[in-house]
Amino acid sequence: MKVLRSVSEVRAWRASARRVGFVPTMGALHAGHLSLVERAVRETDAAIASIFVNPTQFGPSEDYTAYPRREAEDIRLLEQHAGAAVFVPPVAEIYPPGDATRVTPGPIAAPLEGAARPGHFVGVATVVAKLLAIVRPDIAFFGQKDFQQLRVLQTTARDLRLGSEIVGCPTVREPDGLALSSRNAYLTPEQRRDAVALSRGLFAARELWERGERDPRVLRERVRELAGGGSVALEYVSVADPVTLAELDTPAATAVISLAARVGRARLIDNVLLGMDVADLR
Ligand code: PAJ
Repeated sequence: MKVLRSVSEVRAWRASARRVGFVPTMGALHAGHLSLVERAVRETDAAIASIFVNPTQFGPSEDYTAYPRREAEDIRLLEQHAGAAVFVPPVAEIYPPGDATRVTPGPIAAPLEGAARPGHFVGVATVVAKLLAIVRPDIAFFGQKDFQQLRVLQTTARDLRLGSEIVGCPTVREPDGLALSSRNAYLTPEQRRDAVALSRGLFAARELWERGERDPRVLRERVRELAGGGSVALEYVSVADPVTLAELDTPAATAVISLAARVGRARLIDNVLLGMDVADLR
């Protein structure tokens, strides 16, 4: 597997590759990230991942410096999963001196994580636009775990005519339901036990949906009842349109239930998609 550290190395590698699949990450890789790499390996001729903890998507009081960094182990895991290459740029390669251009996504970035983390999606859209311009993949793979991020990036790639297909892949979970996240490493054993409430609440609402319940207020309330407690402090529970992320107040044929919570020093997010599959969103 090729370890590439500069834009020019990626461009040279790209020139000799055919159909390229790309998996952008911030490293500290887990089975969720690796499921995306497996998709890229399966569906394209050459799978390239990137490992870059992107400073512009972290707020001033967020965990940029504390974010786990495990480069050597990540590279080993990618190699085991048949990655063809990995791009591990230093910050100055992505944000060279004088860099000032930013990508501002539209209204899809306003609610939920956009409201809770001002500037976050400008950082995400900017770094992903840069990475797509460098790698020029045929397909880029993203997790449903970060559902709003997926929709923001699908919209950005479409609006800016970036030329890569943005494909969403299902959330990988622990056996008890907790969505895998690099930030789960921040949890104490007790907080880890409490954190299962998040997926439990979402799954309970999904069961209501499967039994025919369509009232967004009832679904929201079910999640609120079950998803908190112990060390879990819910920040928001949203029932929204999966395409626009506009909050629903009347029954609809499809919905996404999203939540965010503080659990100790971790801020965790999760979601379930109702009435459709993540692969249907483009
Ligand atoms: P990161 O949190 O490292 O996630 C990289 C990719 O892995 C994202 O597409 C994310 O949705 C996906 N992912 C994370 N946990 C997952 C899980 N449990 N199951 C399936 N997929 C999962 O998201 C980012 O990095 C950054 O914002 C990035 C897009 C790289 C831009 O900096």
